[in-house]
Amino acid sequence: MSDVRPIGVFDSGVGGLTVLRELRRQVPGERLVYLADLAHFPYGPRYQHEVRDLALRIVEHLIGGDVKLVVIACNTATAAALHAARERFDVPIVGVIAPGAQAAAQATRNGRIAVISTEGTLASGEYLQAIKEANPGVGVLAKAAPDLVEIVEAGEADSPHADAALGAVLDEVFDWGADTLVLGCTHYPLLRPALRRVAGRRLRIVDSAETTAARVRRILGVNRLGSGLEAAEPPRLLVTGAASRFTEAAALLFGERLPEPEVLRLWEEPPAQGAEPMRAVS
Ligand code: DGL
Repeated sequence: MSDVRPIGVFDSGVGGLTVLRELRRQVPGERLVYLADLAHFPYGPRYQHEVRDLALRIVEHLIGGDVKLVVIACNTATAAALHAARERFDVPIVGVIAPGAQAAAQATRNGRIAVISTEGTLASGEYLQAIKEANPGVGVLAKAAPDLVEIVEAGEADSPHADAALGAVLDEVFDWGADTLVLGCTHYPLLRPALRRVAGRRLRIVDSAETTAARVRRILGVNRLGSGLEAAEPPRLLVTGAASRFTEAAALLFGERLPEPEVLRLWEEPPAQGAEPMRAVS
């Protein structure tokens, strides 16, 4: 049996494209639809309930477009909305936190895992729980690194500015003696060149893009949801706001020009209540 319906993937911006790229690599026969909620970027400093509502609306939209599976390719939205989305909708929904947390618990040799993420993901405590679920014997240092998200979204992931910001975040991680670093935000894998310069081989890097795509492959297999195709057309891209840097970032990441994103008017206006981002401190 085969199912050629697409997989829906979303994030607040370009970060989830790291997951999309891995999906293209690991399940090349699957049709993919990617939605970037640029109208509400960044998610990190927003209230959890606000991110949850945004995410639920997006999942609803994707399901309305007949996707067979949804990937919440955003840690902040996974932390805020995965449980609620699974309660509300019937299609399989995959988040990015559990796959990365399990991979980190397996990767560490000294039992010290650092996680960097947005403020929202940090505040949710979901990584701590998921890592301790995998192995309660390991220590977790969780840190928010919101500047890194802005740097990536601004297209400066491979720059001296990125090196400096990353260096400042990783100082404490090195002092604490972590041997494993979880990139707890889907924007961060785009910082790989800067990470190599700043951390060298001092840390095992766990990137939830790879582990999430592997999980999707397994879920498609177990539930007989695979398309049965050898290759699928390029992903369809949707954005909810001005796509100024998005196309460029996508092309850079995929090494090919992807189709122009379609602008989706999911929200004609920003949400009225609690729309003011909460600037949390780490
Ligand atoms: N890429 C998102 C994540 O994984 C968050 C970026 C943001 O919107 O703050 O958490």
